[in-house]
Amino acid sequence: MTHLSTIHEQLENDHRELDVLVDETMAAIEAGDAVETFAKLDFFWARLGIHIRAEHLRLFPVVREVAKKTPELENIPEILGVLREDHDYFMTELARAIKAMRLVFTFGNEAETFANVRGLLQGVVERLKVHNDIEESQIYTLTGPDFLEPAAAEALLSSVRAELDRYPNRFRDTAT
Ligand SMILES: [Fe+2]
Ligand SMILES: [Fe+2]
Repeated sequence: MTHLSTIHEQLENDHRELDVLVDETMAAIEAGDAVETFAKLDFFWARLGIHIRAEHLRLFPVVREVAKKTPELENIPEILGVLREDHDYFMTELARAIKAMRLVFTFGNEAETFANVRGLLQGVVERLKVHNDIEESQIYTLTGPDFLEPAAAEALLSSVRAELDRYPNRFRDTAT
């Protein structure tokens, strides 16, 4: 993982890396390559899960505390609630797509499955774009020096990085 100097940059960079993984997954679908599609989808799902975990465990609790101290930020808990629903949607839809791809290896029926998986992934891509825009413009911005003391920002940055580094063991070789 590339180390960047702020929480905002670190997480925004992770969004860009996730975008690349989605593009690679779509390319595998367009190429009609079931093995590659499964591998790319599985990796994207795992990486997105890690990103979401970093947000839930490390970022959102800090942002919630920041919002409590600032009257103008009273809508933040509601936004965090929407983002959490998005996260659930992403993981559920991707799990469905992975399950569908897995069945191809047993039962065939590739054309229908590819159409189904493409539809599921397209739904995730569209909602992820809106989701990431909200995070980058309204949530990650609350980790800057106007809101967090330097020590708190440093602690959050290192805990976010530690979460982002938690690749599942099965991806260790490809996750450098
Ligand atoms: Fe998120
Ligand atoms: Fe995010």
